[in-house]
Amino acid sequence: MPAVVIAGAQWGDEGKGKVVDIFADSADLVVRYAGGPNAGHTLVVNGEKLIVRLLPSGILHPDKRCVLGQGMVIDPGTLVSELDALDARNIAYRERLSVSDRAHMILPIHVLVDTARERGPQAIGTTKRGVGPAYEDKAARRGLLLGSLRDLSRAKELVLRQLDAWGPFLRESGTEAPPIDTIMSELTRAADRLVPLLADTQGIVAASVKRNERILLEGAQGALLDIDHGTYPWVTSSSATAGGACTGAGIGPTAIQSVVGLVKAYCTRVGEGPFPTEQKNDTGAFLQKAGHEFGSVTGRPRRTGWLDMPALKYAISVNGIDRIALTKLDVLTGLKNIDVCVAYKTKNGESDRFPSGEELVDAVPVFRRFAGWSEPIGNALATDDLPRAAQDYVRFISEETGTALSLVSVGPGRHETISLDAPFPAR
Ligand code: GDP
Ligand code: IMO
Ligand code: MG
Repeated sequence: MPAVVIAGAQWGDEGKGKVVDIFADSADLVVRYAGGPNAGHTLVVNGEKLIVRLLPSGILHPDKRCVLGQGMVIDPGTLVSELDALDARNIAYRERLSVSDRAHMILPIHVLVDTARERGPQAIGTTKRGVGPAYEDKAARRGLLLGSLRDLSRAKELVLRQLDAWGPFLRESGTEAPPIDTIMSELTRAADRLVPLLADTQGIVAASVKRNERILLEGAQGALLDIDHGTYPWVTSSSATAGGACTGAGIGPTAIQSVVGLVKAYCTRVGEGPFPTEQKNDTGAFLQKAGHEFGSVTGRPRRTGWLDMPALKYAISVNGIDRIALTKLDVLTGLKNIDVCVAYKTKNGESDRFPSGEELVDAVPVFRRFAGWSEPIGNALATDDLPRAAQDYVRFISEETGTALSLVSVGPGRHETISLDAPFPAR
């Protein structure tokens, strides 16, 4: 059972890119299993930063095979520009990168629909990358698979179907869809680059399982943005939880050995939707500034607030998280006190259950206060190197959730990490 899932346990941006990059060192295969260019995963190596939106975060390791799985929605133009960025850095990928021919394509129409909707009363603060409408087409069974780039005349028929489907909405919202010839000439250009990378990626994953290799399954977004388990309707349109790794990569649950939950030492959220521990005050501004909390895709300021234990326990339960990677602990340095939500008061009483639906809207967080610390912690190599107050905070998170820590991240760089176990359990 060689596979490990890395999944966000909050509202995304927990630091999945950094942790996947570290784990990838011990992996044979890295598979991105969900989402699309709404994701922005940051890799910082030797002080240099690369943000990937579609590529798996293992891509900087020159000898690692990487897969974009069929659970993803892929904008061909965005993928080509990410490949250009690899070329510019002399990172070879042609022999080791495979893109599922069953992943769905994001077309310019999807981006226009997403953007037009965001101007209306139903706006939910999406990334406007066309992700929602592309998953809608998938569910409506009129989606365009990446594999259709191999046969552009068939692809043209399918694009025309999508233009028909979305045309009335676009016209109503005063948006003009691009002419079919423009769409097709962009697809033709992208096809030259992408067709050589297309593959039956489920077959690649299955062969890797058979060889008992170490497979890293990289999630995007986070549990609270999951289409089934998140704070609906303010969610993304895919399965961001560990279950999505099975469908999105084509691997059975019995092959998954461990689920690592990515947990930021506080909480952030981009876009609309409930965020009960949000701090719209000086503390929130401190976290935003110290944590550079601005969207890596859209540049939007991320909302900030305290860690939410009921939400975290829920995410642990939904994902089957058996290890926590705690990130951005260094951002809390300099705060006099650190609050943590440990329960909610609702009209049904006080409980450590994360309220759902309408109940969440009126839920009042109950906070427990921890002492802060002032010493910089970026150089800590072991938890013993942390100030006592930071040790107490970290221990509380692990004990309260009953979940072991896999690592504590104390800065954006690869080496600013306290490693507490082996990324892949012994086979
Ligand atoms: P992802 O979407 O989960 O991969 O996370 P993002 O890359 O969108 O956002 C995380 C941000 O925090 C990035 O800018 C990372 O470089 C940065 N980061 C990751 N871990 C740490 C950490 O431990 N400390 C600090 N200060 N920054 C971190
Ligand atoms: P990573 O993988 C944070 C949020 C958007 C919006 C909602 C729906 O970097 O953690 P969408 O464009 O998906 O239809 O937007 O989901 N969202 C994210 N927030 N990190 C992400 O990805 C996100 N991907 C989507 O802000 O609230
Ligand atoms: Mg991100």
